[in-house]
Amino acid sequence: TKGAAMVTAVASRVQAQRKQIDEVLALFRLTREQLVGVQGRMRAELEYGLKKKTQALATVKMLPTYVYGMPDGTEKGKFLALDLGGTNFRVPPGGEYRREFCLFDHIVQCIADFLDYMGLKRSAAAFGFTFSFPCRQMSIDKGTLIGWTKGFKATDCEGEDVVDMLREAIKRRNEFDLDIVAVVNDTVGTMMTCGYEDPNCEIGLIAGTGSNMCYMEEMRNIELVDGDEGKMCINTEWGGFGDNGCIDDIRTQYDKEVDEGSLNPGKQRYEKMTSGMYLGEIVRQILIDLTKQGLLFRGQISERLRTRGIFETKFLSQIESDRLALLQVRRILQQLGLDSTCEDSIVVKEVCGAVSRRAAQLCGAGLAAIVEKRREDQGLEHLRITVGVDGTLYKLHPHFSRVLQETVKELAPQCDVTFMLSEDGSGKGAALITAVAKRFQQSRKE
Ligand code: GLC
Repeated sequence: TKGAAMVTAVASRVQAQRKQIDEVLALFRLTREQLVGVQGRMRAELEYGLKKKTQALATVKMLPTYVYGMPDGTEKGKFLALDLGGTNFRVPPGGEYRREFCLFDHIVQCIADFLDYMGLKRSAAAFGFTFSFPCRQMSIDKGTLIGWTKGFKATDCEGEDVVDMLREAIKRRNEFDLDIVAVVNDTVGTMMTCGYEDPNCEIGLIAGTGSNMCYMEEMRNIELVDGDEGKMCINTEWGGFGDNGCIDDIRTQYDKEVDEGSLNPGKQRYEKMTSGMYLGEIVRQILIDLTKQGLLFRGQISERLRTRGIFETKFLSQIESDRLALLQVRRILQQLGLDSTCEDSIVVKEVCGAVSRRAAQLCGAGLAAIVEKRREDQGLEHLRITVGVDGTLYKLHPHFSRVLQETVKELAPQCDVTFMLSEDGSGKGAALITAVAKRFQQSRKE
């Protein structure tokens, strides 16, 4: 009977622990009503951003891009494109955020190396600059940086024109000329590359290090730009959705911790719940809390677990892969420096699943808002539209893309949305936009 009593005690402790874990996971489960609520609020914010009166205060900035149309296939020539702000030219995770050198001199150094290598230094090639941060544009080749996102920080850039900064750095170096024709957000480049193949592609989505969307809007709805004819691409910068507190009801204590520990506290709240740079951080905050409660890692918070940025998207993707045996999950955790038991690895996998599922659903709710808006604006019963997509989270994660698509279908049933993967959208797209802008310039001169 003593043995039996012990078994019962252990069983009830296990049960109590399970209950505590479930309570944490439940915070990440969104009901249909909650998702419909997010969709509605996103829709309202999109409209605010387009209107003169509300623009200044809108958290979804709805930035005009001065990209009016798609390439028509007649574009010819050699164009150079540079991509800053994607996964490639990125600040390393954890601590080393401050760039002590001048960012734009460094960029010009990279361009110089490339031109040398290609033997193009004398060609003064037409150049498209993919700059994947919020910029207020007044024309296709002017863009003032509103603020850094995604853990970038370089002093004295905010409020400055990024094309001017690039031109000045080229002048300082005094080695070569560049004809900078366009500054382009990565979402816009992505939409453009896919639009080249599918004319229905009127939305660009990035689900990667950051999260953002652009789409073709009717000129008559864009109050900040003169003219009513045709369409223009709007860079929504939807990552800032919620910065006025409008989604605080679904944010958890873990989201708040991630936000507070970031370089831009209070900003990009939606991005911090939906993009690769932050999902691992949310997971880490949950694991720390579960460990504190004695539910994981034998209650021991290791130095590793305290380290920011250890869970990159690729690890989340691996951990959540269906084919992976638990032993392999343990091995990945071990690689990350986390010693886990078999039970631990089950819990870690569940935590990752809950966080990435919520991210995909939230992103889907945002997308549902835009396709429904496009459908209503065109007075259509049914809308067929293609979304050009890029980003490591969308491409590498085993479930993210499926959950995102299911959510859009569920929340926007009158829209038939096709997703099209873009290959190097930022680079190719910038080159395409440069080509189109160049053709425009020339026809104006003639
Ligand atoms: C961040 C940037 C945005 C970019 C996105 C994806 O949200 O602010 O401009 O498109 O990341 O890279």
